[in-house]
Amino acid sequence: PAPSSASSGDFLHCLSASIPSELIFTQSSPSFTSVLTSYIRNPRFSTPGTVPPLCIVTPTNASHAQATVLCGRRHGVRVRVRSGGHDYEGLSYRSVQPETFALVDLAIFRSVRVDRARATAWVDSGATVGELYYAVAKASGDRLAFPAGLCPTIGVGGHFSGGGFGLLLRKYGIAVDHVIDAVLVDAQGRLLDKKAIGREVFWAIRGGGGESFGIVLSWRVRLVPVPPKVASFIVPVSVNDGAVDVLTKWQEVGPALPDDLFIRVWVMNGLGMNRSHCREMSWAESVLYVWVGSGQPIPVTDLLNRTTSMDTSNKGTSDYVRRAIPRDVWAEIFGWLAKPDPGIMILDPYGGAISAVPEAATPFPHRGGVLYNIQYINNWAAGNDGEPNVRWIRDLYAFMAPYVSKNPREAYFNYRDLDLGRNVVVGNVSSYEAGKVWGEKYFKGNYKRLALAKGKIDPDDYFRNEQSIPPLVPEG
Ligand code: FDA
Repeated sequence: PAPSSASSGDFLHCLSASIPSELIFTQSSPSFTSVLTSYIRNPRFSTPGTVPPLCIVTPTNASHAQATVLCGRRHGVRVRVRSGGHDYEGLSYRSVQPETFALVDLAIFRSVRVDRARATAWVDSGATVGELYYAVAKASGDRLAFPAGLCPTIGVGGHFSGGGFGLLLRKYGIAVDHVIDAVLVDAQGRLLDKKAIGREVFWAIRGGGGESFGIVLSWRVRLVPVPPKVASFIVPVSVNDGAVDVLTKWQEVGPALPDDLFIRVWVMNGLGMNRSHCREMSWAESVLYVWVGSGQPIPVTDLLNRTTSMDTSNKGTSDYVRRAIPRDVWAEIFGWLAKPDPGIMILDPYGGAISAVPEAATPFPHRGGVLYNIQYINNWAAGNDGEPNVRWIRDLYAFMAPYVSKNPREAYFNYRDLDLGRNVVVGNVSSYEAGKVWGEKYFKGNYKRLALAKGKIDPDDYFRNEQSIPPLVPEG
């Protein structure tokens, strides 16, 4: 049941007994709005109609996260966790339905400790991947890296717990393939290491979404070797220059090349970049070079920049392709990109290391047989409602159905899309059956194992959102 205003008061009182007041922001605090919006990455979810948290806690210490959960349990207030705030549906800081919840914002819980000799690092969830890459590059003289996402401001907490792939996916696989330990606060407020987390839940937080299982505070990862210099290139090809043929061919070549090569494709209307040739740079620099896409080198210290523009809102979704799309269909897709209010498609080739891992090794099941991932994304000016842009994505998604994976139509959990389905709460617990609709798209056969892991660590479904794993508790 929703807590009464009296229990909200008791909750805040409970927090203040264990957490320094400067780390708690209630709705009446002068800096509440700035703390809330500083890590909102999609202005679409920063409107007067957005359900805000009852309060924000910014832990500097594990005990602050534990206290928030303990007080929340005692007084009937749920918790949502935010690391980098990049969730495509804003579920880390907003509730779709009116609900009283507290936000645990890990923005200042973000140290990175690199052990060069062992080629490992401990990284706190509030760090950005840019901060991780920078620290690893500095500590290793550009000889080590970590295989995770491209956008430097993504938070480690959400990104790792949902999979995490980027430029090194063909060479080394994805972030969760390299997570070797973690620290988790569970729904009873306990602070657990890998052993105490247990085999099944440790499996689950590596791709099944951290928010269903607790608050992941820190991760220990294995770093990977890279040469001190890599080559990066940006090659624009217009439709008049044969883009349809290039794309048709890329589908065969991109996933089959030696795994030292990764060729991401941006399919868009018009070319927002300049022609340039191969450039040599460190791996850390290549992340920025490819992410920004201007064809100009970007100073590596930009990896430490945590601010992003709030000028545009966006809607995204994803698909997986297991059979090359025919040439004439690509020609039609370019027609979609020429319609009013179009978005773009980003294609990441698989094959190599990402595809060599068995589907059940981690919750992330999009492995052998996948040619590439499609990310659809449409941006619009923050002040607009984005209705035509969202419609464009939904219509294109419907058009693509015959050409992408089927039964289930796979989707990437980290490109979260509530159009795929959302939880139905039955008897105060999210329904396992209803969750299959979206859960099997993200996790295929791993959905059931995730639900069983959830049943072990949080059978009451305290940690939940619109697309959290429902608990499944075996009878008897
Ligand atoms: P955020 O803080 O919003 O959290 C996302 C989800 O994880 C929420 O449900 C939240 O509750 C939960 N969560 C966060 N921290 C947690 C914690 N410590 N413990 C438990 N649960 C926690 N992906 C990719 O694989 N490769 C890429 O290259 C990119 N690029 C990219 C660019 C841009 C501009 C965006 C907006 C997104 C991406 N992504 C991506 C997707 C990205 O991986 C995804 O949005 C991640 O969930 C973001 O993690 P954050 O911590 O930033 O999000």
